[in-house]
Amino acid sequence: MTKIIAVTAPRTAGATIIASNLAIAHQWRAPQKKVGVIQLSQIPDLYHYMGFTHKRHMGDLVSFWKTKEWGASLLDQIVQVQGVEVILSPTLRGWGAIDQAFFIDFWALVTKRYDVLYVDMDPKLPSWVWTAVEECIKICVNILSMGPASFSAYEQIQNQYPSLSEKSQIIINQVDKREASEVRVQFSRLEVPLLGTLPVDTKALWHQVYEGIPVVMQRRSKLGKAIEKIIDHLL
Ligand SMILES: Nc1ncnc2c1ncn2[C@@H]1O[C@H](COP(=O)(O)OP(=O)(O)OP(=O)(O)O)[C@@H](O)[C@H]1O
Ligand SMILES: [Mg+2]
Repeated sequence: MTKIIAVTAPRTAGATIIASNLAIAHQWRAPQKKVGVIQLSQIPDLYHYMGFTHKRHMGDLVSFWKTKEWGASLLDQIVQVQGVEVILSPTLRGWGAIDQAFFIDFWALVTKRYDVLYVDMDPKLPSWVWTAVEECIKICVNILSMGPASFSAYEQIQNQYPSLSEKSQIIINQVDKREASEVRVQFSRLEVPLLGTLPVDTKALWHQVYEGIPVVMQRRSKLGKAIEKIIDHLL
């Protein structure tokens, strides 16, 4: 059964960056497994973070749906590779061509392909997308930043999708090294599972955002090293 790890940021906090790097690091650490990452968002940007120029995505398969060509190998047409297999999302306009019935069949193909699948989930997706994915999720990694807005948005999502709360783990992104141990102490007092904290690393981010070199591929990046540590808990 596919291990589905959703990565979501109730408020922009680094979900796409972290999902992309966790997936690559996971594939390295578990070479015998087939790992993938898919973005489900109406404002897709994963292609940019992965350094792809081609923007093939899920929506390109709509015309094959319910034809005799429909099947597992069709995914080869849209999968791209950057340390791990990547499936991109259509833009808001492209989502207009995607309905629930197509998505359910597409989702079945995708989950069959992988042993481990990271899903960069946009909290603002139509609820039917969440409904289709929600029950398959094994772990839901919530990316938060230090600040009340991020935490209250997290609580809202937990209320909206109560079945996710028992699968939820938290990563606090952009935490200063001096604050990291204090954050861990505070969280151990709450009943919220803290998967880890990640440091600010503007330089590494710059290389990923503008050159498409994922952070974990930058061997000296402190963010890359911190992400690799978190992988131990997700293998
Ligand atoms: N650890 C970090 N150090 C420095 N900058 C960071 C870090 N994490 C994220 N950022 C910055 O935050 C930006 C947003 O990250 P990202 O796109 O992954 O967030 P998101 O939660 O997916 O946002 P969206 O709501 O658009 O989906 C990045 O482009 C990067 O500049
Ligand atoms: Mg994102």
